[in-house]
Order: sequence, then C-alpha cells, then structure tokens
Amino acid sequence: MSLNINNILANIDLRAPRYTSYPAAPHFTELTQKTHASWLGQIPQSEAISLYIHLPFCDRLCWFCGCFTKITSTYRPIAKMVGNLVTEIKMVAQLLGERRKVVHLHFGGGSPSVMLPDDFSAIMDTIHQYFHIDENAEIAVELDPRTVSDDKIETYAAQGVNRASLGIQDFDPAVQKAINRIQPFSMIRDVLDSLNSVGIDKINMDLIYGLPLQTPESLHQTAESTILLNPTRISLFAYAHVPWLKRHQKMINQGDLPDLADRLKMNKMMSRRFEEAGYEAIGIDHFARPDDRLSLAQHHGGLRRNFQGYTDDNGQVLLGFGPSAISKLPQGYAQNTSSFQEYRQAIMASHLPSARGHELSENDLVFGAVIEQLMCYFRVDLAVIAEGFGLPVTHFSAALAALQSLPGRELFQISGNIIEVKKDYRMYVRMIAAQFDQYRDIGNAKYSKIA
Ligand SMILES: C[S@@+](CC[C@H](N)C(=O)[O-])C[C@H]1O[C@@H](n2cnc3c(N)ncnc32)[C@H](O)[C@@H]1O
Ligand code: SF4
Repeated sequence: MSLNINNILANIDLRAPRYTSYPAAPHFTELTQKTHASWLGQIPQSEAISLYIHLPFCDRLCWFCGCFTKITSTYRPIAKMVGNLVTEIKMVAQLLGERRKVVHLHFGGGSPSVMLPDDFSAIMDTIHQYFHIDENAEIAVELDPRTVSDDKIETYAAQGVNRASLGIQDFDPAVQKAINRIQPFSMIRDVLDSLNSVGIDKINMDLIYGLPLQTPESLHQTAESTILLNPTRISLFAYAHVPWLKRHQKMINQGDLPDLADRLKMNKMMSRRFEEAGYEAIGIDHFARPDDRLSLAQHHGGLRRNFQGYTDDNGQVLLGFGPSAISKLPQGYAQNTSSFQEYRQAIMASHLPSARGHELSENDLVFGAVIEQLMCYFRVDLAVIAEGFGLPVTHFSAALAALQSLPGRELFQISGNIIEVKKDYRMYVRMIAAQFDQYRDIGNAKYSKIA
C-alpha cells in the first residue's frame, strides 16, 4: 500500500464524537421534566421498547476507566441506588400508561455485577410487574469478572439473562498491573464455565488496544487467548486517554502508552486475527460470530447504533434509568442528571431525574440517518436518504463539498452521491461522518481521538 497514513493523519483533526447519538450528548441542552414526561405520555401503545439500567458503581478503580462510575468500598450506596432505580422504573412506567412490551433489556455501568443477587432480582421483579418482557427479549448484563460469584450467576439465569458482557481489556499481567486491574486468565475461564453451566452462552468480551505497556506482539497473545475462549462477540475499543476529563487516568504513565503507529498496527492485527478466526467485523469496534444477532442484523441491513454501541435493536424507544442514563424517544433525547445528589433528590420528590436533552428536528433526523448509515456500513447513498425524507439530494451539497476538500481524501471514495470508506481505513469513519454533523463546531465539546 502506497499511502503514508501517518502523513495523512498528521493533517487531520482526529477528535470526533463516537456518534452513539446524533446530535452527540455534549450538545444536549436543558430539558424540563415536564417536557420529558409529556414525551413519555405520547409514545404509541404499540411501540416495543428497550430498557437500559445504569448502575454507576464499582468496587475498584481501573486507571484507564472512561465510564461514568463511582468507586465504593461499602455496599450501602449500591443498596440505596437499587431502591432509587426501582422507584424510577415505577415512575416512568406510570407515565407510559399501559404495560409495554420490552424487547431489549441491558444492565450497564459501572459494574452491575457488584449488585447482590436479591437487589438484581428486585429490579427484575419491578420490571416484570410494570412491563411485559417479550419471550424473545435479549436480557444482557455487563460483568466485571472480579465481582462475579456462582450465586450471582444462578440469579442471572433464574431471571432470564441470556447474554453477558465481560470486561477483559488485556490478558497480559504486566498490562493488567499498569492499569490497576489484575484478573488472571484462569479467573475468566472459571466465570465462563459457570455462565455456561447455567445456559448463559451468548458472551461478549471487551478488549482495549492502546493501553500502557501493550505492544503489537503482547496484544497478539491477548487475541489468541480471546479466540481460545470463543466468545460469540468481541468489542475492541481504542483506548481513549482523556486525563483532563478523567483525572485518575493521570495514574497511567504517559511514556508507557503506545504511539499512533503502534495503535494502528494493533487495530489491524487484532481485526485480521478475529476475522481469520471466523468472526465478522461489525462497525468500527465489534466482531461477531456469523450466527450472532449482530451479524444477522448486519446482513439484512438492520444494524443500528445506540448508546450501547452497535445493536440489532431497531426500536424507536430506549428508556435509560439511573444517573447520567440517556433515553431515546421518538421526539428526542432525555438525559438524567449526572449528579448523584440531584438524582436522589428528584426520585425522592417523585420527579423525573432528567436534566438535559434535545428535541429532534426533521433536519436532525436527516443528517442523523447519514451518520448512522456511515457508522454502521461505511457506505451511504445520499440520494437514497434524501428520497426517504422527500428532499432533493442538494440538501447535502455543503457537506459533500466539505468532504471533497477534506485532508485525508485518500481514505474514502465519492462516486456521485455515494460515499464509501476504504476497508483499511474504516476506523476513521468518525472523521467522515463528522462532515455531516451540523453541531460539530458549536460549543466547546471535547471528544476523544479516533485512533
Ligand atoms: C462499563 S465497562 C464494562 C463493565 C465493567 N465495568 C468492567 O469493566 O468489566 C465498559 C467497557 O468500556 C471500555 N472502556 C472503559 N474505559 C475506556 C477507555 N478509557 N477507553 C476505551 N474503552 C474504555 C472497557 O472495555 C469496559 O469493559
Ligand atoms: S470495572 Fe469497568 S466501569 Fe469500573 S472502573 Fe473498571 S472499567 Fe471502569
């Protein structure tokens, strides 16, 4: 390949949103609880919905962590949060009116696996009481393997959990030490055996490249260990080092971080290894077995992007619960306050804890559709999107012109109204998608680097 990617990238602003929503969350503005409540009340009865429960606690701090979480050495705050979540679920269900059908249910965090079995069951029981969980619903839980026990796993199975996502990051003991997260291979294998024994066999593993002390060679070993454990899905995230936002990342020695060239090598090597092992590449950072729901969705054109990343969930309604959680409604986005105190006070006063959001305009839907299509398929036909909205394709002329003069033009092709990112440079799709972002230069939002 003749392209000198480092020269190209040196001239490009590599910071762009991850586009798990459009507009991206930093562009949300104040949203009143009254507006949020009225949006909930207007959701058509026939609409199937998805639920996301955010448990923002962990018992130890990983130095690389970019998630919204709080470390607690006692169980008290977790127990209190479970009580608040139960109340919030009831409150939202009452605003929705009749019992709604749930097709996706996801527990994320933080680490929902820090919850004791009875507390996990209390949340599930509340959801059963106020919603109808579809028999084919996907019920997924994010697990920090260090916090899992057999009784928790038995409870997950009894409560219908059918997918588990394990935070692995890297198997190399030296890297694990450098990120303050020791979890030997044998521990992961034991957790997988326990999950398997209760029938939870749809497994995702989270890995990160770009961590301190990683080399392309050491990461190759992590790829082999992962393949050996045979998860149905793998998420391969680029380490986002943002110490000005996440101060604990200062614990990571900057000099131990791999440079851009090594990060590129790592991404390519891991992708190649997973594809050789039979996984299909999905979007910018996922791999899935051909019979996994994500691969099937990718084939029939149903791959979507939401706050959990890539999904086969093509519903209009995703309801988020817990501090900082975001809901997507047909009318727009509503985000809960990130302040634990404000969240608790709102719940205790029987108010929705929403604080920020964005009402979607027709133009948001139009540009959001282009961005989602690019993020999912690396290819978009602007004429098809324009036609879908009854607009002339000239609606995109300004964005197309910006794209045509973009440094890094070698990374993608434009033929007529079709834009396609070249296979080797798919990890830069955010940069191309950003040319369609009508909010990009508004405000002072800081995003992580693309690669
Ligand atoms: C909420 S955590 C998963 C569950 C659990 N807390 C754990 O870590 O095992 C979500 C995932 O985000 C990824 N992640 C966290 N911080 C990151 C960062 N700074 N850059 C890239 N990925 C990150 C990790 O792969 C992590 O497993
Ligand atoms: S366990 Fe997960 S959420 Fe918690 S600190 Fe580590 S990476 Fe962050």
